[in-house]
Amino acid sequence: MCKWRGAFCYLDLLMSPLAHMVGYDPKLASVLRNACMKDKTVIITTLNDAWAEPGSIFDLFLESFRLGNQTKKFLNHLVVITWDQKAHARCLALHKHCYQVETKGDNFTGEAFFMTADYLHMMWRRIEFLGTVLDMGYNFVFTDTDIMWLRDPFKQFYKDTDFQIACDFFNGNSYDLNNHPNGGFNYVKSNKRTILFYKFWFNSRNAYPKLHDQDVLNKIKKDSFVSNMKLKVRFLSTSYFGGFCQHAEDFNKVSTMHANCCVGLENKVNDLKILLEDWKKYVALPESKKNQSHPSWSVSCRTSFERAKQKKQKNKGRLRRALVVTV
Ligand SMILES: *[C@@H]1O[C@H](CO)[C@@H](O)[C@H](O)[C@H]1NC(C)=O
Ligand SMILES: *[C@@H]1O[C@H](CO)[C@@H](O)[C@H](O)[C@H]1NC(C)=O
Ligand SMILES: *[C@@H]1O[C@H](CO)[C@@H](O)[C@H](O)[C@H]1NC(C)=O
Repeated sequence: MCKWRGAFCYLDLLMSPLAHMVGYDPKLASVLRNACMKDKTVIITTLNDAWAEPGSIFDLFLESFRLGNQTKKFLNHLVVITWDQKAHARCLALHKHCYQVETKGDNFTGEAFFMTADYLHMMWRRIEFLGTVLDMGYNFVFTDTDIMWLRDPFKQFYKDTDFQIACDFFNGNSYDLNNHPNGGFNYVKSNKRTILFYKFWFNSRNAYPKLHDQDVLNKIKKDSFVSNMKLKVRFLSTSYFGGFCQHAEDFNKVSTMHANCCVGLENKVNDLKILLEDWKKYVALPESKKNQSHPSWSVSCRTSFERAKQKKQKNKGRLRRALVVTV
C-alpha cells in the first residue's frame, strides 16, 4: 500500500497521518537548509541528462542569472534536482546545491519527449517532490530550466497569495481561473492549504491517467475541493513573466522569459541563445536610451511550433492535444 518514492513516502490517501512518522531524507533536509533564504524560500529546478549537456539548456539557465539584473544572488538559493547520475555529476561541477532524487528503475537519462510515458512519469514525480518540500516547511519558486532569469521576480510577486503561477497566455485578470497556467514557473508558500493542494493534485493523476500535471491542474483548478480549501491562487502576468507563447514585450519590465511554445531541445537552445543576446544588447544601452528604444525579442521558435501544430492537426490530430498544451 505504501511505496518508497525518493524522499518521501506517500500513501495514496490525502492527509495521511502516517506520513509524518516516516520522515524525510536527511540529505534533502540538509540541501534545503543550506540553500534557503532567511524566510525559508528556495528556488528549485529539475534537470535530466539531455538538458545538462555542455552548451545546452542548463548552461544558458545559469548564464541568465549572471546576465540578469541583480539575479546572480539567487544562485545561492537555487536547488537543482537531478534525475540521473550524469545530470547530477554535471550539476556538482557547476553548482553548489544539487540533490539527486532516488529513481530506482526509472531512467530519465534521454530527452523525455513531450507526453510520452516517461515524460508524464517525470512530471508527476516533480509534483510529488514539490509537495514534499512544502511539507518540510519550505516555500519555493519552481522554475523550469528553460526559463531565463533577467530580473528579480520577488519584486513582482503578489503579496498574501498561496499559489501563484505563470501563464502561457494571460488574459489580464490575475484572479481569473480561466487563465492558461504554465506549471514551469510558480511561487508557492508552505502552509496547510498548499500542502493539501499538492497532495490533491498528485492524487488526481489517478483520475486522469493520460494527462500531464498541467492539464490536470486545469481540470482541478475549479474543483469544489480546491475552492473549499480557500487556496489563494493568482496568475502572473506575461508582461513580467513572459515566454515564447506570449512575450514580455517591454525589456524595461521583463523578469523571466520561458522557452514555451517551442518544441525540440535544439530549437529551444537556439532561441534562448538569441534571447540572451537581445538582453545583452539592451543592457549595454546607455541608461537614457533604455526606455526610449523599444527593442523586441528576435526569437522565432514559436513559428516552428505553429508549423508542427498544423502538421499534426492534419495527421488525424492524434497529438493535437499534446501540442495545444505547451512545454
Ligand atoms: C537594474 O537594477 C537597478 C536597481 O534596481 C536599477 O537601478 C537599474 O536601472 C536596473 N537596470 C536595468 C537594466 O534594469
Ligand atoms: C538509460 O537510457 C539511456 C538511453 O536513453 C541508456 O543509454 C542507458 O543505458 C539507460 N540506463 C539504464 C540504467 O537503463
Ligand atoms: C522605464 O520604464 C519602466 C517600465 O516601462 C518604468 O518602470 C521606469 O520607471 C522607466 N524609467 C524611467 C527612468 O523612465
